[in-house]
Amino acid sequence: MIVKMKDVIKRYQGNTLALDYFDLEVHAGEVVGLLGPNGAGKTTAIKALVGLHEVDGGIVEVFGQAQNGKNRDLRQRIGLVTQEITVYEELSAYENLRFFGRLYGLKGEALEQRIQEVGQRIGLADRLHDIPKKYSGGMKRRLNIGCALLHEPELIIMDEPTVGIDPQSRHYILSFVKDLAKKTNVSIIYTSHYIEEVEAIADRVYIVDQGHIIAHGTTKSLIEQMKGDATMHITVKQGSPATVTKLKALPDVKEVTLQDDTYHVIAHAGAVILDKVLAQLSQETIVHVASEQPTLEDVFLMLTGKSLRDGEVA
Ligand SMILES: Nc1ncnc2c1ncn2[C@@H]1O[C@H](COP(=O)(O)OP(=O)(O)O)[C@@H](O)[C@H]1O
Ligand SMILES: [Mg+2]
Repeated sequence: MIVKMKDVIKRYQGNTLALDYFDLEVHAGEVVGLLGPNGAGKTTAIKALVGLHEVDGGIVEVFGQAQNGKNRDLRQRIGLVTQEITVYEELSAYENLRFFGRLYGLKGEALEQRIQEVGQRIGLADRLHDIPKKYSGGMKRRLNIGCALLHEPELIIMDEPTVGIDPQSRHYILSFVKDLAKKTNVSIIYTSHYIEEVEAIADRVYIVDQGHIIAHGTTKSLIEQMKGDATMHITVKQGSPATVTKLKALPDVKEVTLQDDTYHVIAHAGAVILDKVLAQLSQETIVHVASEQPTLEDVFLMLTGKSLRDGEVA
């Protein structure tokens, strides 16, 4: 077991309960996705895991040892890619990599070799002597990732590494993670609020909401839980909670949520109920009707009654 977090509680000053009996397990060689909306507690969980935060309760173990933030040996074995970019803008990429390599005790020829290897890996080999100020957002992100890889950590943690970058760099980072997972036995934790990313790279997914894991499993098994269920999205001019109640009372309806004047209705497998659903809406002006097989987004919606994209800054 590489990571074990169990019943972890973290309260910030001002009394925000950021982790509320939070659980996470990572096994050797796994890519684990931690998926949740902004403010769910992803970064807080990562900080607890690497020992940047003391927690108020529960178990945090890395490589079988209790994390107390003081164990140098643990730090050596973890590579953290922070959500905020932490490279030095005034130093060249090469100097940044050298700086972080030295922090982890690398030197001489070994360090030089790792800088070249990592430079290749992150696709910046021919731009190593430029300063990050001249880089695009995506290139800075890649350098930020490279700085966490020099010491060949056994556990790599990437906290929302694709936020605010161009699609091309995003694609590059995702293939990079897949490739790294395939070629090495490294374990990776990847946090995101983008479902497509987590679906694309993770062996297993943990869905976090309000500091608590509300579901976990393989993407397939999470969707499997809802397999056969049909989802309908009916947008009206003005949705009402009274209609939600009426829809919920229909036979074969599992769950109904209302969001921005759209009713999301999840029905049991094989049930053909669109006509019954629409009959309940006879008093409302229907703007749009859509129906589909469930996705991970629907799993989240069903469990929490809200969209993963809530609060996203476009
Ligand atoms: N340093 C802090 N002090 C007080 N509250 C914080 C601090 N950092 C995060 N929070 C709060 O804790 C909750 C979880 O935040 P965070 O872990 O950053 O979520 P995520 O990374 O999933 O977006 C949020 O409500 C956030 O406002
Ligand atoms: Mg965060």
